[in-house]
Amino acid sequence: MTRIEVTVDGAKVSDEVEPRMLLVQYLREKLGKTGTVIGCDTSNCGACTVHLDGRSVKSCNVLAVQADGHEVTTIEGLAQDGELHPMQAAFHECHALQCGFCTPGMVMQSIDLLNDNPKPDEQQIRQGLEGNLCRCTGYHNIVRAVQTASGQEVNK
Ligand code: FES
Ligand code: FES
Repeated sequence: MTRIEVTVDGAKVSDEVEPRMLLVQYLREKLGKTGTVIGCDTSNCGACTVHLDGRSVKSCNVLAVQADGHEVTTIEGLAQDGELHPMQAAFHECHALQCGFCTPGMVMQSIDLLNDNPKPDEQQIRQGLEGNLCRCTGYHNIVRAVQTASGQEVNK
């Protein structure tokens, strides 16, 4: 077992973990942060995306010990004082929430996308989200949500 100290959604936690434990397992099983989901076992779907020091990572592809000394933000840490994060609000407004399974990862990846490119065009949004799979629909409303969150006009 290895001792780690991580800040998760603003709270410092200290734990003993197996060196092979994945970050997604740690978040879900040890901390009960079940908003971060596991959609595949191949690092393909993006459902498990969280922020590690502000950048999106697939938490099924990171060991919990790699988060030692770092800051992790999950979908559950985005809302502040009962207010949705602007990206969550935009997903809500644009009906981009569908099955809900892929949504946490989509939201986390979209925030990171806007950090790099505050006004992405449609093509750039689609490219930025290509590591996040939705199996049941087109991505139209998700793209519109990201455009809305970035303050761009959206055809409704
Ligand atoms: S569960 Fe991590 S990419 Fe699918
Ligand atoms: S809306 Fe989540 S997989 Fe389709």
